[in-house]
Amino acid sequence: MQRPKRVTVAEMGPRDGLQNEHELVPTETKIAFIDMLSESGLPIVEATSFVSPKAIPQLADGAEVYAAIRKRPGVRYPVLVPNMRGYERARAVDVREIAVFTAASERFTERNIRMSIAESIETFREVVRHAKADGLRVRGYVSTAFGSPFGDEVPPKNVVDVAVALADLGCDEISIGDTIGVGVPSQVEELVPMLARRIPLERLAMHFHDTRGTALANVYAALGCGISIFDSSSGGLGGCPYAPGATGNLGTEDLLYLLHAMGIETGVDLDRVRAASRFIARELGHALTSKAYTAMEARDAISAS
Ligand code: HMG
Ligand code: MG
Repeated sequence: MQRPKRVTVAEMGPRDGLQNEHELVPTETKIAFIDMLSESGLPIVEATSFVSPKAIPQLADGAEVYAAIRKRPGVRYPVLVPNMRGYERARAVDVREIAVFTAASERFTERNIRMSIAESIETFREVVRHAKADGLRVRGYVSTAFGSPFGDEVPPKNVVDVAVALADLGCDEISIGDTIGVGVPSQVEELVPMLARRIPLERLAMHFHDTRGTALANVYAALGCGISIFDSSSGGLGGCPYAPGATGNLGTEDLLYLLHAMGIETGVDLDRVRAASRFIARELGHALTSKAYTAMEARDAISAS
């Protein structure tokens, strides 16, 4: 299998990143952060969630954020929607793309969205039907694809079954999530061909968290299997509040550094992503975990002194 020559990068920082910050981030800061990311050439910037504000108070201002961001032509701004209530809130601010989310682990799904996997698929059936009738694009997430934080087994076949169920509902793109960052390349090389037998490769994305430092190795393995869409977060922000021990997504800077150095195009300006990361790090008041970001900031500090 030939590695793709071009990759689509889906930015998760404003949603997967900020949902996991302890302090509430001001709405204005979120808007400025998303606008900076939009200017970098990223084709997808996941903007926020329309979930229960009791579950994720960090993103309770989703409607204000979505309404105020500058929608750059050609850029997609998906938002997470768990049910019809979320869909109605998203439609009220004219969202053009939603993302529904479930998992391959029953225990995780129960903690995260208080449904069984089967119930989540039934809930999304109505959501996706409305979204399609309204002309929206739909992403679908399968979390805990390489392991659950609650000790239950996650065989690859379960991941395929859930991904196929989401594709059958009408999801345009399915993102396979290593929510707690436990996956290794051999698992990726086993799972992706199984998925690709049921779902066209161009509809599959991989969503790696870098909790154990394996995210880039997994990207390399997935590229070799023909995957050309990857989720990542500015500066490596993030985690999932319902997955104990989860840390951030693979840093967007780490992903871009690897891809660009390998001659794989993304259309994204790495320095502009860094500027967005620098801005949010200052606002959050803590360091970011992306290695490429940290190295490039240190290099620039030395050359400026
Ligand atoms: P529930 O408590 O079973 O829901 O939660 P409910 O229908 O019984 O409603 C309870 C209350 O919430 C009601 O309000 C509803 O109106 C309200 P009350 O009457 O008590 O005042 N409510 C809502 N309010 C606003 N927007 C809504 C909404 N829905 C209900 N959409 C529910 C079920 C799914 C709602 C909840 O568990 C939830 O919102 N969970 C979201 C959890 C979440 O966002 N997790 C993080 C995202 S997943 C992730 O990060 C993984 C990913 O990155 C991929 C990877 O890494 O693998 C995507
Ligand atoms: Mg995630």
